[in-house]
Amino acid sequence: MLDRFKIVTVTHKKVSLHSISEFVVKTSDSASLRVRLEDLKGTFGLNELLYLATCNRVTYFFHSEQSLNPTFLTQFLRHLNPEISAEILERPLDFVNVLEGMDAIEHFFQVASSMDSMVIGERQILGQLREAYDQCRAWGLVGDNLRLAMDQAVVTAKSIYANTRIGEKSVSVASLAIQKLMRFHLPKDARILVIGAGQTNMLVAKFLHKHHFENITVFNRTVSKAEEIAAMFDLGRAFSFDDLATYSEGFDAMVVCTGLTDAVITPALYAQLLQGEEGSKILIDLAIPHNIARSVAAENDVHYIEIDGLRALAQENMGFREQEVQSAKEMMAEFLHEFPKIHQQRRLEIALRQVPEEIRAVKDRAMNEVFHKEMAGLDNATRVLVERMMEYMEKKCIGIPMKAAKEGML
Ligand SMILES: NC(=O)c1ccc[n+]([C@@H]2O[C@H](COP(=O)([O-])OP(=O)(O)OC[C@H]3O[C@@H](n4cnc5c(N)ncnc54)[C@H](OP(=O)(O)O)[C@@H]3O)[C@@H](O)[C@H]2O)c1
Repeated sequence: MLDRFKIVTVTHKKVSLHSISEFVVKTSDSASLRVRLEDLKGTFGLNELLYLATCNRVTYFFHSEQSLNPTFLTQFLRHLNPEISAEILERPLDFVNVLEGMDAIEHFFQVASSMDSMVIGERQILGQLREAYDQCRAWGLVGDNLRLAMDQAVVTAKSIYANTRIGEKSVSVASLAIQKLMRFHLPKDARILVIGAGQTNMLVAKFLHKHHFENITVFNRTVSKAEEIAAMFDLGRAFSFDDLATYSEGFDAMVVCTGLTDAVITPALYAQLLQGEEGSKILIDLAIPHNIARSVAAENDVHYIEIDGLRALAQENMGFREQEVQSAKEMMAEFLHEFPKIHQQRRLEIALRQVPEEIRAVKDRAMNEVFHKEMAGLDNATRVLVERMMEYMEKKCIGIPMKAAKEGML
């Protein structure tokens, strides 16, 4: 049964972060994401599906009898992205990791515990995983098997964060980006545009604030979130996402990070924002897929900072954690050892759910059909006694398999 847990994933370990975009389900909003995931689940006969897309991975975690053979993989990838490159389809395993059974569970636990992240020990991944899970559950995509895996992954991750120093002196992609920005020695009143006001840009804003930048203009679809960030700065201002198209006050740097899967900063929009100003601009793109069109970074006078370029800084951060990763692996081995038992017990509990009803039906049939005549011929006291005996038997019979399942005897 455990072999029905399967993962198809693409991570920073095998491909550039930019290439991860090829494996993302590209949609304009969450309603269409739901439709695409439902379609994926139906088309490939998946019993349950959890989709996780972060800046350094895209993971399809599912429960299915489906064999993950090369034909399945090619069809799956082509279905995800009809324009996926021929190179990937020719040699998918050069890009994608395919895991089954306990290997899939182990990978999932490692993701939750941030042991597989580009920045080891960053805790945002657990929040992102929870959000992805909650969304897929609300859409009816996941069921009892992935719920169990998710519960155990969270328990494992929490224990690892609490009992190792893996998350200590933690850095995030946002903090690494700001470290890079600081190398340009911008004045504190530099005009910085923050486009998107999600979790990542909220973190970015906290670092900008810490470094005493004050002239921050935030654009976001939900203006109240832009206002929340702008309020942190003396010269902070908030606008709607649509106001970008008419913004004409120029800028020195911009940090772009939204959940949109297409370029937000197109060449035309960039020209509008530039307002004919000369001199180098700093562009930071933390989104995956990228939100700044490639041509904007290539054809303008810019210092371009994107997540792939932060790898080296992330590696420097690794040194401190090597030791902790070892302890975390040892701790995880114990949780992994328990998982098959927990899973089996849960399957038995589910399988035994109908036992009480079946036993009750046997009793009712005995009393009302098979021994109906004999029961009718009994005097009142004897009939009450027989009924009480049958009820006693019913309760005891129901208890036997339940107890055995709980004790792991079956
Ligand atoms: N979390 C991390 O650790 C991390 C690190 C590095 C990079 N990233 C990448 O950063 C990007 C955003 O991640 P996040 O964690 O900040 O996400 P998030 O908290 O979910 O925020 C998403 C942002 O994108 C905006 N957005 C989403 N759909 C939109 C649409 N259709 N039109 C306009 N705006 C839209 C949201 O606007 P509303 O506020 O109006 O919803 C919000 O500002 C992703 O590409 C992710 O891979 C994340």
